[in-house]
Amino acid sequence: MRKISPQQRREHSDPHENSRPVPRFVLGLAGLLGIYGVGYILVENPNTSPAWGDGRTMAELSAGNAAPGNATNALDGAALFTARCSACHQASGTGLAGVFPPLANSEWVKGAERTLVAIVLNGVEGELTVSSIKYNGVMPAFKEMLSDDEIAAIASYIRGAWGNGAGPIAAQVVTEMRKETGVRGPFHGDEELARLGQ
Ligand code: HEC
Repeated sequence: MRKISPQQRREHSDPHENSRPVPRFVLGLAGLLGIYGVGYILVENPNTSPAWGDGRTMAELSAGNAAPGNATNALDGAALFTARCSACHQASGTGLAGVFPPLANSEWVKGAERTLVAIVLNGVEGELTVSSIKYNGVMPAFKEMLSDDEIAAIASYIRGAWGNGAGPIAAQVVTEMRKETGVRGPFHGDEELARLGQ
């Protein structure tokens, strides 16, 4: 046998190509992530409002209001109005000529409590007359986004603001109207709102 010198022994062996497949566990992990991803898409409902967050309303989060449906005083109707309505109806309640009707001096705001609440809960679309000017826009529904207390606070605020001079609305009215109008879509303008009665 040929003698191997110490120098030769120190040498590394020649490199050679080796097939190195992706480790099983990495494949398994990728598979699990894939299943998780598909499952998530199937199970998740993407049509919920992002504003929902964990589903608690402002009323439930504000101090001393742990149980939904009690005490409206903690809610600031003006702040809620600014956050939810003023983009369209403007901070001054004047609306935007031809596009968004005014809430200041509006017969809908000052009129029947139930009708105003129904508008905010369900939205309106189609021909709507406000202070003898016809509008034909789309007002979004707020029933999924605001609690009864919040809607009552906003409605009370707009009834009292800008010289409207109408009285506040109790959350009870909103609760009843929410039940009465159920899962219906938006009201169709003057005609359908008139049928709502007082
Ligand atoms: C995306 C814009 C938009 C937002 C936000 C919006 N509205 Fe409206 N609102 C409209 C439009 C448009 C109409 C008229 C619908 C039609 O022509 O049928 C309307 C109509 C109304 C009416 C009846 C007409 C009038 O001027 O009195 C009331 C009351 C009302 N909105 C209150 C509110 C309140 C309260 C909020 C906030 C909770 C709000 N709106 C948020 C667009 C909006």
